[in-house]
Amino acid sequence: GAPVQADISKLEPGQRMTVEWRGRPVWIVKRTPDMIERTENFDPARLVDPDSQAQQQPDYITGPLRSIRPEISVLIGICTHLGCSPLYRPGPDDVDMTAWPGGYFCPCHGSYFDLAGRVFRNVPAPSNLEVPPYRFESDDIIIVG
Ligand code: FES
Repeated sequence: GAPVQADISKLEPGQRMTVEWRGRPVWIVKRTPDMIERTENFDPARLVDPDSQAQQQPDYITGPLRSIRPEISVLIGICTHLGCSPLYRPGPDDVDMTAWPGGYFCPCHGSYFDLAGRVFRNVPAPSNLEVPPYRFESDDIIIVG
């Protein structure tokens, strides 16, 4: 599949947009400073693969935020359990869970992921959401693929 271009110039802090790449949804979220802090400071003991050892991402993606720029998250929006589409739950009050850092909830069988797509322990999904290959062509243009 050909690379796709995403214009993020109209993306507001906290918002998500979706583009399609190779028949799959790619989520682009503009994280607020608070969302970044909640993700960076989240207890890694509650995550299956906090350092992304399972390589669900390109080599140039490192660190807890799993992104090139801290404020821009790019993830494949497909649950790593059986392929449902998780829901975006960015705020700490959006989910009835203690110390929720924000992220994604898959309603099919109840899997939770943080705002970097890192999967929680004790849920059906085995691994983090995938980060597709991408780069910034300019401040506002992302090329996925
Ligand atoms: Fe997401 Fe099963 S498909 S939890």
